[in-house]
Formats: sequence, structure tokens, C-alpha cells
Amino acid sequence: METKTIHLQNVTVDGEIVIPGDKSISHRAIMLGSIASGKTTAENFLTGEDCLKTAQIFRELGVQVDITGTDVVIESAGMQKWQSPQRPLDCGNSGTTARLLLGILAGSPVTATVVGDQYLSKRPMDRVVYPLRDMGAHITSEQEELVLPLTVQGTTLRAVEYTPPVASAQVKSAILFAGLQASGTTVVHELSKTRDHTERMMEQFGLQIDEQKLTVSLRGGQDGKATHVVVPGDISSAAFFIVAALIAKAGTITLKKVGLNETRTGILDVVQAMGGQVDIVNRSTSVGEPYGDLVITASLLTGTTIEEEALMPRLIDELPIIALLATQASGKTVIRNAAELRVKETDRITAVASQLNALGANIEELEDGMIIHGPTPLHGGVIDSYGDHRIGMMGAIAALVADGPIEVKDTACIAISYPQFFKHLDKVTQSSLQLEDESG
Ligand code: S3P
Repeated sequence: METKTIHLQNVTVDGEIVIPGDKSISHRAIMLGSIASGKTTAENFLTGEDCLKTAQIFRELGVQVDITGTDVVIESAGMQKWQSPQRPLDCGNSGTTARLLLGILAGSPVTATVVGDQYLSKRPMDRVVYPLRDMGAHITSEQEELVLPLTVQGTTLRAVEYTPPVASAQVKSAILFAGLQASGTTVVHELSKTRDHTERMMEQFGLQIDEQKLTVSLRGGQDGKATHVVVPGDISSAAFFIVAALIAKAGTITLKKVGLNETRTGILDVVQAMGGQVDIVNRSTSVGEPYGDLVITASLLTGTTIEEEALMPRLIDELPIIALLATQASGKTVIRNAAELRVKETDRITAVASQLNALGANIEELEDGMIIHGPTPLHGGVIDSYGDHRIGMMGAIAALVADGPIEVKDTACIAISYPQFFKHLDKVTQSSLQLEDESG
């Protein structure tokens, strides 16, 4: 297991980072580019491990996917020409790959088994399997629980009208992908609006999709046209440096070309409510997705309440790093209605509370969130990532406010979403980051 010891006591921050491509959008570029016939190209693709798993899976279905740096060329003869793979399709740690793939395979001409790593194999798949079965999908499991491995035998599908019981873009997207192959018009009603990258990108591929507030409808039997996709920077990766700049002793960080789709920008609302200074400049839109540069300056922060149902999907992945931010804010920060955190890459409520409390934070765990009492000085110590990239990065950023070094256990997982993370942390801390690497 790879461990890093990070020394950043009393360091100021400064400089500019070009944030790597958005993970959600990168997955969808490969998926839609593989479904459409022709040559799709993508730029600023995220070469994190999750997205590389998605690329490899579509190669195994017979699609040519070439990645050079962050440029991708996808050449597909269209879904109808896919072949059943020789071996199980391995999603690694990626919930997005697994859940969207189940929806895509359901109406495809192939039969395939979908597998994942030890963490993904524990995560719930019933949330996609039930609605897909309602559409006629043949999905079977070797065990009683609906978890991976699952085998999908592609078949003829019929449209459904469905309201997922949890607000989940993965569930919505799985149904929409299946709906593309189904007879009739598939309709998804959401309890709260979730990220709409699938809908926006489907439009870029020439597919007609109707988005009305909380309802999305899609007519089956449409053929997409290959296109060019520009992936903006991932605000979920930017979040670590937003917080780094806010809690550092002093300094300013500029984050370039960060995606600003409003289904993803909940962290900016929270930071503003806490008194953090984030300015957005150079706003633009490319291929259906807005983006801009963020300029963040060290700020005095106060606690806040994060509980509105509609806000949750807009910042769910950022809650671990927001919890670290709250340990440095004066007053109480309350996070509620966030039970989904318990079924992410790890149980992020227990992981955040236990790991930050071990450094001196005062966090009460709730069934559906946490209460963070701040400000608390943090001391040096050990953070276990539990194999979860976002917990590992939270631990590394905590080193900026801890009075001693932080040892982060199992840092290899950070490459899942942000392979350049330590290089970027080194850059904005003016190479003050003294890293001790250990493997074992
Ligand atoms: C994602 C949706 C979210 C998010 C995940 C990526 C996506 O998950 O947490 O990191 O790309 O659709 P849920 O749909 O489970 O909320």
C-alpha cells in the first residue's frame, strides 16, 4: 500500500492550476461516442483510472478508442455492431461506469458480465437494476443481493416513466441510455435535479431530449451522430484547491477552466454562505457546458447549514472537503439529508468524522450527515483514505492547517479522479510540499 507523509505546516499558497477534465463528462464522451457510428473526438479528457476503465470496456465491445495525452479519438461502427466481450467488463472502482453501462448494455446486441473492485462490488446496483428490469432488461446476479458481478443479456426494451427514489444522475442516465434503445418515450421524474451532463451531451450528439425542470423525456430509436466534445475542468477536483486556498495562512489560487454547470456548483454557494472569497472570471461555454476561472483567496469563515434537498446532488461529492473547511470555520456547520454519502466509494460520513476527529476536529456523526464544531486546530497524524480518492485528497489538504505532518495511507487511489493532484499541490505551495513516499 502506498503511503505519503505530507509536510505543509504554515505554508502560504499562490499560483495557477489548470484543473483536469471532468470525470462525469469524460465517461459520457466515451459512452456516447461508442454508441454513435462514426468518429467522435474529445479534448481535455480525464485520464483518471475510472475513465480509463470506461475506455477499456468499450474497446472490449469492439470500439476503437485511442487516447493521446488528453485527446481521445473514438471510432465506432455503432452499437449494433458491438461484439460480446471475451471476458468480464471491469469497472474497477467506478460506480458511474458500472451503473451507466448496465443501462447501455440492456438494449444492446451483446451479452456481458460487469464486475468491479472490492469497494464497487459492495455498492448498491438495485437502484438501476429495478427500473431497467421494468423496461424488460435481462440482468442476472450470481448472489441474492443486487451487487456486482451482474450479467446483462441485451434484449428489446420498452419505455418507462419512472421516479427514482434517490436523486441520482447515475440512475437517471442509466435509464436514459436504455431509453435510447426502447420502443416509446422514456420519462424520468427527479425528486431533486441532478447533474445533467448526459442530457446536454446527448443533444450534442444530435439526439432529441426534452428537459423540463425535474422531468426528462427521450424518444427511443434515435441514432446519434459522432461529434467533437470539449471537457471542462472538474469542479469536484477544483474543490480541493478551493478549500486549500480558503484555509491556507495566506495567498490566492487561480483555477483555470473549471466546469460551472449549475447542477454541480453547490460548493460555491456554500463557500459564499461561509464568507469565503471566490471570484469567477473569464466565463464561457463550450459544447453545451459552461466554464470559467476561479480566483480564491484565504478568508475568515463562519459555519453554515447544508440541508436543503435540492442542494445535495449539487455538492454531494464535495462534502468531505467541505467538512474539512468547516473545521476551520467559527461556529457550527450542520450537514443533513446526505445519507447518500454512506454508499459512495466508502462510507464517507464515518470516514470523514473518524479521520478528521483523529487529528483534533470535533465532528458528530449523524445517520444522514454530520455536525462540525469549529474552529478546531488540527494536529499532525494519520489519515486512512479507505481506498477512497476524495478522502485521500481531503487528508492531504488538511496538512495545510495541521501543526505537524500528515501521513495519508493508501494514496494510489487519488489517481482515480486526479492523477496530477500532488504535482498541483506542490505547485501552489511553491514546492514547500515535502513528500515522503513509502510503499508496503
Ligand atoms: C455521477 C453522479 C453522482 C456522483 C458521482 C458521479 C455521475 O452519483 O456522486 O461521483 O457521473 O453521474 P449518484 O448518481 O449516485 O448521485
